[in-house]
Amino acid sequence: MIFGVDYYPEQWTEKDWDEDLEIMREMGLSSVRLAEFAWGLLEPKEGKYDFRLFDAILTKIHKVGMTAILGTPTATFPPWLFKKYPEIAQVSKDGIVRIIGTRRQASFSSPAFRQATERIVTAMAKHYAGHPAVVGWQVDNEPGHEGSDLDYSALSEKNFRLWLKNKYKDLMTLNRSWGNIFWGVLYSDWSEIPLPGAHVASNFNPAMIQDFFRFQSDELVSYINLQVTIIRKFSKNIPITTNLYPSPFLPVTDMHELFKKLDYVSWDNYPVWGNQTEPYPHPLVSSTLQYTRGLKNKPYTIMEQFSGVQGHDTLGYLPPPGQIGLWLTQAVVHGANQIYFFRYRTARFGQEQLCYGILDHGKRKTHKYFELKETLKKIKEFAEDVEEVPYPAEIALLHDIENSRNYKHQPLSDGLKFEPVPFAKVGYDIEIATWFAGTSILNVNTHSLPINTEADWSSYKVLSLPLYTMFDETIVEKLKSFVNNGGTLVLGYRAGIKDKNHWMVEDPVPGRFLEMAGVEVFQFEAIGNSEVKMRMGIFPLKAKKFCEILEPTTAKVIARYTDSKKFYKGKPAITVNEYGKGKVYYVGTSLDPLSFVLFYRKVLKASKIPFGFLGKNVERQFRKGKKFNYQITMNHSNKPKWLGFTRLKPFEFHIKKINAY
Ligand code: GAL
Repeated sequence: MIFGVDYYPEQWTEKDWDEDLEIMREMGLSSVRLAEFAWGLLEPKEGKYDFRLFDAILTKIHKVGMTAILGTPTATFPPWLFKKYPEIAQVSKDGIVRIIGTRRQASFSSPAFRQATERIVTAMAKHYAGHPAVVGWQVDNEPGHEGSDLDYSALSEKNFRLWLKNKYKDLMTLNRSWGNIFWGVLYSDWSEIPLPGAHVASNFNPAMIQDFFRFQSDELVSYINLQVTIIRKFSKNIPITTNLYPSPFLPVTDMHELFKKLDYVSWDNYPVWGNQTEPYPHPLVSSTLQYTRGLKNKPYTIMEQFSGVQGHDTLGYLPPPGQIGLWLTQAVVHGANQIYFFRYRTARFGQEQLCYGILDHGKRKTHKYFELKETLKKIKEFAEDVEEVPYPAEIALLHDIENSRNYKHQPLSDGLKFEPVPFAKVGYDIEIATWFAGTSILNVNTHSLPINTEADWSSYKVLSLPLYTMFDETIVEKLKSFVNNGGTLVLGYRAGIKDKNHWMVEDPVPGRFLEMAGVEVFQFEAIGNSEVKMRMGIFPLKAKKFCEILEPTTAKVIARYTDSKKFYKGKPAITVNEYGKGKVYYVGTSLDPLSFVLFYRKVLKASKIPFGFLGKNVERQFRKGKKFNYQITMNHSNKPKWLGFTRLKPFEFHIKKINAY
């Protein structure tokens, strides 16, 4: 288990370095991440490299017995590069050129940018190959973040046309596949095809946008892989990663694909950021941690772990005593085997002078320093015992990049149209996290996995699958055999009705799942951000976002709408169908988190998965270790909690050794 910190020696004087390394070691940290924004320093002139600063700090790091992960510095490029090749800048959807002065502005489609990348990465990889302090590489920094997953530049347009040509071969096939007869948009030359950018009115063809998102993802992944290939050539046995940013569901990038050639997944964990006055609810944080773990189904790294309040121009919530230690513990509990705090000391200047680290602008040790140091001590034995033992779960939530993309450009209901910042369309993400919350609040270990035709689901009792509108025939068949063999599938509304070409099927909802779910849907309503009452036995539930009126063919009704303001009062909203040796639940609406909890109780009971409700702010998890099994209970609230005879203080956690899990 490694605990470290993100360190920027270039922002401090050489005099600070020895002292800094000493403070880190005293705190219990043994590693640093370096250099991910240092291109301007490393290559001050085209082809002229200067490694002196990082050589010097790496020598010191090695001397004190610490290690380093090196970031390739491509998340921002030096001004001279832009001056020489102005076409390397991305263009936003609104046509704004992302100029120099900030970061994340390079077009992944630009040959000049790719060449410049090859040069700096080769120089760095060669120079540091075999360095005894280097234990990892981080490629780029948060690729795709801040809207940089979508590029509307001329170079992107050029490559999009090539990508389409490669996919469809001829224009007749493309026209037919997209359905371009609609509004008569029949292309007769590849050069006529635009990018689906901003438009004053109406929308672009959804099949075209879906392809554009796929293309953008391929561009980003191939850019990262370009770097991976170079690093591997020189640093054969050193693991390579890149860091995902909050929220990991957010971009159009296929993160499962992105990590195929990388050795482990890293994620930047900020349970609160910027002007938020409340942190995210704990199940949302757990859901992102499990998303990260699930991408490779392996232990993961937190490359940036919240240590102090952070924001670019505004600040928000101050975590009360205990909470940053609790967030650190939560990340370990969900399967992290390396954690680097962001950041060691707060920059006195620059764009992030409001991003507070473990230390503030001075070097005085803060309460954050002492709290994290204490927590590290407290969790060390547990962390080391569990780190390589897989995180156990009998239930998995499946998410799918194709549907995530689909709901970004066709959100269906205002309730699924959630844009907290202009570049984030996260309605799909929130729906996934809400489903996750259902089992998280019931304290059931839950995996979150990308839909994958090669996955082995045989160890799960329950699979949950929300918003699976665009289907893959292989996945449908796999789910069928999962249920046939006795598994339980919980399927969300709008399932199974759109093929990969973006065509709707002729069958009613739930399309490919009609027989498995044993229901048909002919009437539905998007209810935006309002609520519709419903009932499951004696429990009142709340329907949100979208309501389907279910017409069971073979399924049994388990919940009905009860809202007198709706003509469909009394009609079925949730059903269950026996299929083969298993069952399919069909949830015809989006439930609010507490309704999900009530609903999942039923599913878990029927599937013989143990659960327990300890209050909506208490999270309990189970881990197996090499020596012991553990029950970890975390109080995420600012109030004390009595659990039997144990009292948990606000934001306190207990790690208990148990016999079996
Ligand atoms: C992350 C980013 C860091 C820093 C941090 C500020 O998203 O990777 O470079 O900007 O946010 O909180």
